[in-house]
Amino acid sequence: MASVNSLSASIQQRVADALGADPLLRRSDRADFQANGVLGLAKRNKANPRELAAQVVEALPAGDELIAAVEVSGPGFLNITVSDAAITRTLAARAADDRLGVPVKPEPGTTVIDYAQPNVAKEMHVGHLRSSVIGDALVKILEFEGETVIRRHHIGDWGTQFGMLIQYLVEHPHELDHGASEAGEEAGEASMSRLNRLYKASRTVFDSDEEFKTRSRKRVVDLQAGDPETLAMWQRFVDESKIYFNSVYDKLDIEIRDEDVVGESGYNDMLVETCKLLEESGVAVRSNGALCVFFDDVKGKDGEPVPLIVQKADGGFGYAATDLSAIRDRTAALHADTLLYVVDSRQALHFKMVFETAKRAGWLTDEVTALHIPFGTLLGKDGKPYKTRSGETFRLVDLLDEAVERAATVIREKSSELTDEEVADRAKEVGIGAIKYADLSTSLGRDYVFDLDRMVSLNGDTSVYLQYAYARNRSILRKAGDAKPVAHPELPLAPAERALGLLLDEFAETLAGVSETYEPHKLASYLYALASAYTTFFDQCPVLKAETPELRENRLFLCDLTARTLRQGMALLGIRTPERL
Ligand code: ARG
Repeated sequence: MASVNSLSASIQQRVADALGADPLLRRSDRADFQANGVLGLAKRNKANPRELAAQVVEALPAGDELIAAVEVSGPGFLNITVSDAAITRTLAARAADDRLGVPVKPEPGTTVIDYAQPNVAKEMHVGHLRSSVIGDALVKILEFEGETVIRRHHIGDWGTQFGMLIQYLVEHPHELDHGASEAGEEAGEASMSRLNRLYKASRTVFDSDEEFKTRSRKRVVDLQAGDPETLAMWQRFVDESKIYFNSVYDKLDIEIRDEDVVGESGYNDMLVETCKLLEESGVAVRSNGALCVFFDDVKGKDGEPVPLIVQKADGGFGYAATDLSAIRDRTAALHADTLLYVVDSRQALHFKMVFETAKRAGWLTDEVTALHIPFGTLLGKDGKPYKTRSGETFRLVDLLDEAVERAATVIREKSSELTDEEVADRAKEVGIGAIKYADLSTSLGRDYVFDLDRMVSLNGDTSVYLQYAYARNRSILRKAGDAKPVAHPELPLAPAERALGLLLDEFAETLAGVSETYEPHKLASYLYALASAYTTFFDQCPVLKAETPELRENRLFLCDLTARTLRQGMALLGIRTPERL
């Protein structure tokens, strides 16, 4: 494990020494890098910027092994060209490291990520898709950087809706019995259809039978009081739902560990105390019987303040009481210093009020960052929320199945020599990858149009494009026979090699940016740029037919590092890179 200084970090340092100030270095089209820091310094010192820039050029060591050329341009910018040897040497250092030179955080903290939180006894919909895909990528990226990550799947497994379901099950205990041959995906589907049937049946009785309604209400009280028989029935719903969730997560290729599933019910024991603490400290006040927290800047259309309701007038606890208790648990018991919530942007106001309340109560201090990571809605081609023809929200599984099917068509067209089984295997990796990538390449908070044709297209910013770039690359390495990837810093680089090399060097910095702002789309766009640069390199620079053995080795080296960077980057997004496509 050796972290590698990037070229930009080395140059930044070199120019900073010569300038005595931050050179404000950035990548540039004119040269490799441009430093703009001379202008500000000249202004502060009332100096002539072009003269100052010329002095910096003088001060930089000539014939340097890092910097090949520096030029003053415009009002006093520095255009800096890196030497070919420095590029190859830096890349060789990355290649020698398992982590591709990506540093491990020297002082990692503890981050709790709240993501992938479907609701018990309910169908999973596309909103759950986005939370799961984005959350999973963030977990992987933060863990790779050395952060201690605690995953929390805050599933909806508690509340008054269970009264009716449990009562019905008590009266019809065999409705959740399992079929003998159920396994895998089918078991998931069977579970969901039992839950659906049970939900509908209990609803019908609830709406037509007053006495059942009364018995159901009594069940809610029993549930909250922890009555063993009621809890046992409730547990059956949770278990049944988990069979379904797990089958969907399997399909999505996302690992959900049972110990990380701590749903709303997990905080039940804390609710009374949470309310008591809020009321005693005056953070929450009684208003028409309900326990409420008020905010100066949260008002309804009528101008009246809209409070966060922690406890309803009938004594019931809601969503907010649970989230506040979860904050107490995550800070005091789990010692988190960062709390992330990957949740639909429509819950922004809820989190704003919950965080503010927790701050007033002293549960969120300056040492803890709590952040809602909102995501937008999946839209149909008509620009409206994605619905089925009959106007229902799409079932997540149907969407996944359709993506896999489309991917199979694309693969069959492209590679006719694959067996049906091979096509089916790859279609999963390509189809699920397409869904994840489309999601992750969209900047957070934005709505996006769910367009499967575009998502599985071989051209453009798609995961299939990246997967093909990877597979083609791997096939060259397989065909290379005895020729091995070896870096040759003495060789001059062609423009396409330089462009690829400079990008390969940016992997670590890209990841650092992602974990700072929690924006996986920055990694997605980096990988796309990398695959594009690789495609150009591949078109312009013969690899196996290179003119000399050294050139061939050096180009194989670039291929190999590109493949490893693509594979690592895609893995961090939760996307597979098949060796052959
Ligand atoms: N189960 C909720 C839903 O489906 C999402 C839970 C989000 N997490 C939280 N801590 N409130 O909308």
